[in-house]
Amino acid sequence: MAMKFAARTSDLIDSPIGAAFAMLDHRVNNRPLLDLSQAAPGYSPAPVVADRIAQAAGEPNTSRYAPAAGLPELRDEFAADLRRSYSASDVSAGDVTITAGCNQAFCATANALAQPGDSIIVATPFYFNHDMWLQAEGIEVRHLGSSDELLPDLQHANELIDHTTRAILLVSPGNPTGVTIPPELIADFVELADRSDIALILDETYRTFRPTEAPAHAVFDNPSWRRTLISLHSFSKDLAIPGYRVGAIVSGAEVQRETLKILDCVAISAPRIGQEAAITGLRHAGGWRREQAQRIARLQDHFAKVMATAPGGFELVTSGAYFGWVRSTDHRSTEETVRRLIVEFDTLVIPGSAFTPTDEGMLRFSFANLTPAEIDELGVRLATY
Ligand SMILES: Cc1ncc(COP(=O)(O)O)c(C=O)c1O
Repeated sequence: MAMKFAARTSDLIDSPIGAAFAMLDHRVNNRPLLDLSQAAPGYSPAPVVADRIAQAAGEPNTSRYAPAAGLPELRDEFAADLRRSYSASDVSAGDVTITAGCNQAFCATANALAQPGDSIIVATPFYFNHDMWLQAEGIEVRHLGSSDELLPDLQHANELIDHTTRAILLVSPGNPTGVTIPPELIADFVELADRSDIALILDETYRTFRPTEAPAHAVFDNPSWRRTLISLHSFSKDLAIPGYRVGAIVSGAEVQRETLKILDCVAISAPRIGQEAAITGLRHAGGWRREQAQRIARLQDHFAKVMATAPGGFELVTSGAYFGWVRSTDHRSTEETVRRLIVEFDTLVIPGSAFTPTDEGMLRFSFANLTPAEIDELGVRLATY
């Protein structure tokens, strides 16, 4: 008898990034590809970080497991980074759990809070791996609607909460929309979650890529944040080290204890070499990190200008962080539009249907890895669609 697979996993979509790449073989032209598929930095880390990685590779400790919650120096540095970024915060190293990337931070958090029969409210459009993980774990996903500005709908969240609900999940700035949720609305969600005795999970992967350096929210200012907020972070984008797998959960002690059980089973500890890279990045690459964020903000302006005329009928709805959330006016299905963009226009984007419960004719354009000249070329190619 052939082996059988778990329906919860086999019913999942394949990785949307992998599916898009698979279509590249069918391209009919010979010109360079415009790759707007991935949300990971295509550029190299700061030289000081790369040097530290090379040096750390030769040190005997680097090949060993790290302490379960992360290297103490990294937990300290990151807590200090958070205190600086969120002004009045009282976050300390004890609130920080280092993970092998923010995806793992989310998975451990979800497993700590919910099991089959429980539900988590997920703001739409969602980051596809969040939705996929909850499905794989048999946790009911309740999709939360958004306003015209693609901000999560507080009233709707209130209506969705019942005795099965364990958390509300928000991402700010959002993937795929790039929309930054204002601090006041984040505070309202924390208040709703707190009142309902559930968690507010806030994925802050793109916080450095907001249009402002002002604090992303004021929730850390009140020590009672630990009752409700679980803030998730990634070093992948800030320090351009996605392959070294470092992220963090910022939470109270009970959440930390539960997530550590999961992290121990899954990875034992986050890779030491990535943690060493992150320590050096936090200590010595602050200026570099700001420059990259400013460079990407300039690219976003350029991208928005090129898209302003809706070339080829592709309308930019929102943009921010690494992303443009684009409406296609093509009469074809989204899948077919994406296929045509890849095969005939050498332009690789991700179908919006990977981020929404139903096909809404949307596309995600991740412009952050293009040069200004490539963004101009994008406009030219789209105009001929
Ligand atoms: C919203 C969001 N969360 C988490 C991640 C994963 O980050 P990491 O590389 O730290 O696992 C991504 C990566 O694209 C993301 O967009």
